[in-house]
Amino acid sequence: MAVLPIVLYGNPVLREKSRAVEAIDRSTKDFVADLIATLKDAEGLGLAANQVGVANRIFLVDLSPLEPSEEIRVFINPQIIETSGELEYEEGCLSFPEMFHLITRPEFVTIRATDLSGEEFEIKADGILARVILHENDHIDGKLFIDYITPMAREMISGKLKKLKAASAA
Ligand code: NI
Repeated sequence: MAVLPIVLYGNPVLREKSRAVEAIDRSTKDFVADLIATLKDAEGLGLAANQVGVANRIFLVDLSPLEPSEEIRVFINPQIIETSGELEYEEGCLSFPEMFHLITRPEFVTIRATDLSGEEFEIKADGILARVILHENDHIDGKLFIDYITPMAREMISGKLKKLKAASAA
């Protein structure tokens, strides 16, 4: 298990539409173990594979920093089945350190995915779980939370974004 470097905004892999995972074999399992170690180390609530530079359709959700009884959830080849409602909530992203924005997204989501043992599962989520699922699922389609903020808010953070881009190109 290894902690991998998390790529920052400006790295083109964050804008890639990730490929489906074809087999949950040894290398997939090893990679997910690294992804879990990376998320735990960063103390985030979620992490997508392309945030460590691998454009595969895998993401993690870990609510244990908020609720210690929560276990890490692995989503492989996820598919959003349904969303409903609307809710404004503050979001951050490990690829945008120190940036937090109010983002409006659906309040409820139903998602189907495959877990590490190759079993398909479906969950209906609301609250913070729905929020993190929707944020991470966007990542694997190359979408980022700043895509949802108003042009005015975007203008206000343009300096920070430029700095991040410069740092990730260095
Ligand atoms: Ni993110």
